[in-house]
Amino acid sequence: MNLLQETKFLTDGYKHAEGYVIATELTCSIFTEILELTEATSVFEIGFNYGHSAFTWLSLNDELKLASIDIGRYKHTHINATKLEEKFGDRFKFTAQNSRHAKPSDLVGYDLFWIDGDHSNHGLSADLNLGNAAESKYILIDDYCNGIKNTNLGVGRLITLVEHYLAKDDFPYTFVKVYNYDCNSGKNPMALLKRDDA
Ligand SMILES: C[S@@+](CC[C@H](N)C(=O)[O-])C[C@H]1O[C@@H](n2cnc3c(N)ncnc32)[C@H](O)[C@@H]1O
Repeated sequence: MNLLQETKFLTDGYKHAEGYVIATELTCSIFTEILELTEATSVFEIGFNYGHSAFTWLSLNDELKLASIDIGRYKHTHINATKLEEKFGDRFKFTAQNSRHAKPSDLVGYDLFWIDGDHSNHGLSADLNLGNAAESKYILIDDYCNGIKNTNLGVGRLITLVEHYLAKDDFPYTFVKVYNYDCNSGKNPMALLKRDDA
């Protein structure tokens, strides 16, 4: 599947702000592989932005439910969230919220926790703690090896952070795989973790 045409309306008429998933054939095959491997029927997303990743997850599985939260600093986030609510009905729920204020109980019942919000060390740490406290079966971390893009965030910074977490006794997750999907600025890696006792 290739959702490039279907997702065009999400950015039409808006200025560029932050990165997002490009739903090419490669991206769709990766997202499909993740849905099959995890057998996820529901996704909890941090970081909606224009809605590309939410649209992609929801389009690849007609049964899938997705809840998305975003700090909501962009106008397009609110407008597109309403459009997705109209298109996907009760399969999609958006909340304008900082993930720092999300509670573990908000994530209960979701099979896959997709973290694509605040990519700072503090931000990702808080989101990993949230997923762990919620006992999320699978955690998918965006921008995992940001060194590939050589951003000013620092080479491999998030790899180091995730490795630190995986070494902790109170973070019972195992690394599954890194996926390189297409985003608006090139290839982007995300890492899938699985909870050991799930
Ligand atoms: C990289 S974009 C998400 C892209 C989207 N997942 C996609 O691929 O289509 C990051 C988004 O996270 C939001 N964000 C940043 N910090 C956040 C936080 N602490 N809680 C919730 N959302 C946050 C930003 O407003 C932005 O819209």
